[in-house]
Amino acid sequence: MNIEIFARAESNVRYYCRHFPVVFARARNELMWDVAGTRYIDLLSAAGSLNYGHNHPAIKRKLLDYIDGDYIAQAIDLHTSAKAEFIAEFMQLVTATHAQPYRLMFTGPTGTNAVEAALKLARKATGRTRIGAFTNAFHGVSLGALAATGSVSKRRAGGLPLDGVDRYPYDGYFGTGTDTVAMIERYLDDPGSGYELPAAFILETVQGEGGLKVASDPWLRNLAALCRRRDILLIVDDIQAGCGRCGPFFSYSAAGIEPDIVCLSKSLSGYGLPMSVLMIREAIDCWEPGEHNGTFRGNNHAFVAAAAALQVRKTAEFQDNRREIEAILDAWIADVSAAHPASRPRGRGLMRGLEMSDGAVASDVCRLAFERRVILETSGPRGEVVKFMPALTMRPSLMREALAAVAEAIEQTIAPTRTKAGTSSLRTQASHAGARRTHVHPAKHEEPAIAAAEGAAP
Ligand SMILES: Cc1ncc(COP(=O)(O)O)c(C=O)c1O
Repeated sequence: MNIEIFARAESNVRYYCRHFPVVFARARNELMWDVAGTRYIDLLSAAGSLNYGHNHPAIKRKLLDYIDGDYIAQAIDLHTSAKAEFIAEFMQLVTATHAQPYRLMFTGPTGTNAVEAALKLARKATGRTRIGAFTNAFHGVSLGALAATGSVSKRRAGGLPLDGVDRYPYDGYFGTGTDTVAMIERYLDDPGSGYELPAAFILETVQGEGGLKVASDPWLRNLAALCRRRDILLIVDDIQAGCGRCGPFFSYSAAGIEPDIVCLSKSLSGYGLPMSVLMIREAIDCWEPGEHNGTFRGNNHAFVAAAAALQVRKTAEFQDNRREIEAILDAWIADVSAAHPASRPRGRGLMRGLEMSDGAVASDVCRLAFERRVILETSGPRGEVVKFMPALTMRPSLMREALAAVAEAIEQTIAPTRTKAGTSSLRTQASHAGARRTHVHPAKHEEPAIAAAEGAAP
């Protein structure tokens, strides 16, 4: 099977597939196989929607039993047993980690649907129209969410003036010496600044598409305090950084803040099934019945998978594995950035990046990594960050193997300018990668023995 059918029939808008021009067929945990049986290590996790890897066996079992029993599949917002079980499981987590009461709103299935609902609710609850969004933010591509998104190329595609949002500087935007919350407060204090009091600020604690920039805990606390003082709502878009990607289920937990609205999607279902939820602080749930709706708010297969995923997350095995691969990635990124001063560590938890000197370098690293059968993408306003989004269930040996391949890709890309220290450090990383590291220019077909040893036959 070749890729010609996609090029002929699919819109020009397709994107990721251009960087990985093969036809994928099967997948298990951190591994994917194309139709020819070639094995790839996945560090993209379907843009962060597969935190539990591909086809997690415990989640799959629950889902297969549910489907096999002819239980409800789609139910708009009707009450179903699957939804009740998800709500019970999820609310346990919410009450264990928050002091304030929250309600859940099931929105349309994609992240941008959740963001649209959050912005509408904030405007309705406060009677104000402006939303404060941050530099390099990404909140989705439907018009309301797009207005809150920073990327100029994404915004241009909107085809309309994107209004209702004011742009504020994210933590660190002017370097470490500038407190941007103080700056924001000055804007809001000054009747001549041109800024109106917003209904809400919307932010990502780690900017997934914006280059893995991280908001520090003190910055988040200061912004939350500013919001309280001014009666501004705080929306955390935890669509990418949440669901355990940064450690705790809610990425803002370590900062000790409690947002008014939280947007969740991507890995919420744990199986890649579309599902989005808003957590709404009870006091601001001012919707009229049916005022905001959507046909696909009742993906019961997603509810079943999401409840099962929350149970997987509670196991020591899952958490130990997550910590172990995070430590491996941490150490590797520290080594590489020490060896190559032009590269800088970005991100937090298992949402990590390595900022390169420019987008061409980062994109070459990803291309060369793919030649070594590792799938990863760039991020950032100029595509300058190599982004690592492994499954939280990735096996440590596979993490080492993938990083050794990426180390070779980096070395090959920046060889002409590398430092002496860099040469040795990267080689050391590659040689630590374990006995099963594959060759630099692999043959088309993976050895069956390797696939079998990894526990999955394509
Ligand atoms: C933080 C954040 N918000 C919103 C979205 C939009 O989600 P979706 O692509 O499912 O609409 C994304 C997608 O990458 C995201 O990372």
